[in-house]
Amino acid sequence: MSREAWLMNPLLCLIGLGLFFWVPCGWSMEVTAPANIQAMNGTNTRLSCTFNSCYKVNNKKFSMNWTYKECDNCSEQTFFTFQQKIINLKLDRFKDRIEFTGNPNVNDLSVTLRDVKLDDQGVYTCYVLNPPDRYSDHKKINLQVITEAPPERDSTVAVIVGASVGGFLAVVILVLMIVKCVRRKKQQKLNAEDQKTEEEGKTDGEGSPEEGAKLP
Ligand SMILES: *[C@@H]1O[C@H](CO)[C@@H](O)[C@H](O)[C@H]1NC(C)=O
Ligand SMILES: *[C@@H]1O[C@H](CO)[C@@H](O)[C@H](O)[C@H]1NC(C)=O
Ligand SMILES: *[C@@H]1O[C@H](CO)[C@@H](O)[C@H](O)[C@H]1NC(C)=O
Repeated sequence: MSREAWLMNPLLCLIGLGLFFWVPCGWSMEVTAPANIQAMNGTNTRLSCTFNSCYKVNNKKFSMNWTYKECDNCSEQTFFTFQQKIINLKLDRFKDRIEFTGNPNVNDLSVTLRDVKLDDQGVYTCYVLNPPDRYSDHKKINLQVITEAPPERDSTVAVIVGASVGGFLAVVILVLMIVKCVRRKKQQKLNAEDQKTEEEGKTDGEGSPEEGAKLP
C-alpha cells in the first residue's frame, strides 16, 4: 500500500464516524418515561422522565412542561415549567405534594408525587425542548392509583413461569448431556474399531500393506 493510502484510511474512518454521529443530531432528541405507573394510595411515587440530546442543557433556552390531564375530555393543566429554572406552578389539586426530583444537567426531569390520592389518577405528560435541537418530544405516563396490593395470583403466575422455564432449561441441559455422552461412546467405539483394524492390518500386513492403509 502506498503512503497516501495509509494516511487516507484513518482519515476516511474519522470522516465516516463524524458523519455517523453528526447526522442523527438534531433528530435524535428523545424523551423516555414509563407508559404506566401503579401507585398505592397514600404512598409516594416517582414519575420518571429523562431525555437524550446532543446538546448540554442551556438554561436560557431549555423548555420543559409537566402537565396533568384527569380524563379524556379534560384539558391539560401544567404543574411544572421551566423558565431559566424549574418553576412549580402550585396547582390546587397537588398543593405541596408534588416536587421536582430530577436534575436537568443530567437530562433527568423526574418529579415525585407524595401521599398519592385516588383523584391523582390520570395522564401525566413530560414535554421537552432542548435547543439547538429543533424538535421537541414528549411522553405520557398513565398513573393508576390502587388501594390494595395486587392479587396474590400475580406471584403464583411468576412462580409457575419461573418453574416452567427452569424445568425446560433442565430438560435441554439433560438432552445435551445425553447427546454428548452418546457421541463420546460412539467415538470411543469408532476409535476402538480403528485400533482393531489397525492391529489386524499389522498382523496380516506383511502380505498386503495397502489393504490396512486403505481403511479410514
Ligand atoms: C387512601 O388513603 C387515605 C389516607 O392514607 C385514606 O384516608 C383513604 O381512606 C384511602 N382510600 C382508600 C379508598 O383506601
Ligand atoms: C366529551 O365532551 C363531549 C361534549 O363536550 C361529550 O359529548 C362527550 O360525551 C364527552 N366524552 C366523555 C368521554 O366524557
Ligand atoms: C411549555 O409551555 C409553554 C407555555 O405554554 C410553551 O410556550 C412551551 O413551548 C412549552 N414547552 C414545551 C417543550 O412544550
